Amino acid sequence: QTVFILNGPNLNLLGKRQPEIYGRETLADVEAGCRALAGELGFDIRFAQSNAEHQIIDWIHEAREAAAGIIINPGAFTHTSVAILDALNAFEGPVLEVHISNVHKRESFRHHSYVSLRADGVIAGFGVEGYVLATRRMATLILEGRS
Ligand code: DQA
Repeated sequence: QTVFILNGPNLNLLGKRQPEIYGRETLADVEAGCRALAGELGFDIRFAQSNAEHQIIDWIHEAREAAAGIIINPGAFTHTSVAILDALNAFEGPVLEVHISNVHKRESFRHHSYVSLRADGVIAGFGVEGYVLATRRMATLILEGRS
């Protein structure tokens, strides 16, 4: 079983961009942490990042055939993208939404998430640890879905 972990715009700069908000760990560090845990839990991950909305939508479409679940940090597309919401609504497995920062403590335009209308769970403000927690939760959701 494979879980897709998808990351939206500017997350390629993780570790360098606004470290006071997003911390000093890089996206490669996040991927390594998720991969190690997923291995222990017995599933594979496909970890990807794009600055392009269409690429994220295409990955979500691929997930319809190839993924048991999706963990997504849509970056700023969280707050703007009906198209990503529509793509996720066409995916049948569990979806978890991750934000490194506590979006509710920040500007009001970050308080609304289109993706939350679909997500089975949301983690915000746990730093990059949120990805690892989401990976663990995903294992539970996949097991529950099988029973
Ligand atoms: C983010 C929060 C978004 O508001 C922001 O646009 C990001 C990152 C987070 O992980 O905290 O790019 O999704």
